[in-house]
Amino acid sequence: MGLYDSILRPIAFRMDPEKVHERAMSLIVRGLIPGRETPLESNPVTLFGVKFPNRIGLAAGFDKNALAVDNWHRFGFGYVEIGTVTWHPQPGNDKPRLFRLPEDKALINRMGFNNEGAASVALRLGKSAPRIPVGVNLGKSKITELEDAHEDYRKSFEALRDHGNYFVVNVSSPNTPGLRSLQDKEPLLKIFNALRTVDDKKPLFVKIAPDLEESMIDDVIDVATQMKLTGIIATNTTISRGGLKTTDKKLVEQAGGLSGRPVFKRSNEVLDYLRRNAPEDMILVGVGGIFDRVDYEQKLALGAQLVQLYTGWIYGGPGMVPKLLGE
Ligand SMILES: Cc1cc2nc3c(=O)[nH]c(=O)nc-3n(C[C@H](O)[C@H](O)[C@H](O)COP(=O)(O)O)c2cc1C
Repeated sequence: MGLYDSILRPIAFRMDPEKVHERAMSLIVRGLIPGRETPLESNPVTLFGVKFPNRIGLAAGFDKNALAVDNWHRFGFGYVEIGTVTWHPQPGNDKPRLFRLPEDKALINRMGFNNEGAASVALRLGKSAPRIPVGVNLGKSKITELEDAHEDYRKSFEALRDHGNYFVVNVSSPNTPGLRSLQDKEPLLKIFNALRTVDDKKPLFVKIAPDLEESMIDDVIDVATQMKLTGIIATNTTISRGGLKTTDKKLVEQAGGLSGRPVFKRSNEVLDYLRRNAPEDMILVGVGGIFDRVDYEQKLALGAQLVQLYTGWIYGGPGMVPKLLGE
């Protein structure tokens, strides 16, 4: 057992989850958490014209404001997805809004897109010099009406377009009322049409929920094909609470999205469905419940060209990516 498993995680897990996150971010930004950098060229792959040092990325939500983009390569990540960024700066939901379910190797969050807004994040990215590709994940501001969502995404994209290797339309967070209805065909087309007026070449992705039925996934595939999207990211957190070991009802019933081990199976099913039904050249990004090398390889075997992790990194610690890569 390493230092993280034996000492650091047990201490961290006695503290408030969001405080731990803030402190960890501040240490990472200052370069004070020793990483286990993998040689940057260890597993390189070029996809949609972008060179990735390896296929493992940090999922959206960890570095919402792009504070540490210059540091994530130190932990071996092959790329990082910043955000979710919204057009308007917003504080997110009231705290507490992040909960651990250690027995299930899971988290529940209802952060609600707390972020500094597209203009500030663009300014910060303009002053950064990341050594790995950066994806930018976009969401709808809480104060923007659902029918005006496309305008919100468009403005953020305009502000950030020069600062990302790819962009993600996030319509799958359970923590912005009505957001997930934007996964329907018509609103989704409207959003991507708006983005295409800004730039018709940038690689665009859509990030979907694990809770979609097959007919809804079919609609997403249609939109992705029609709008010439680069790919689909599967999946976000789930609103389901099935099969949990945690017995504390108050915890299990917290509103928000569940991530980690319990979403592994369902996000793999979605990934598998996408691989069998989406055009062959569509890039699939597998995310949800990766904890070890076997999990990572399973996502690749199901057809993911890239993967991402969030919850697994909290449980696995800063040495996790090199371990997944088998180093
Ligand atoms: C605390 C927390 C915050 C998150 N915030 C975002 C977000 O802002 N945007 C987004 O697209 N996904 C967000 N996610 C979802 C993750 O990017 C990922 O899709 C999901 O957690 C499943 O992966 P995992 O099991 O490896 O955590 C968040 C997840 C967690 C745990």
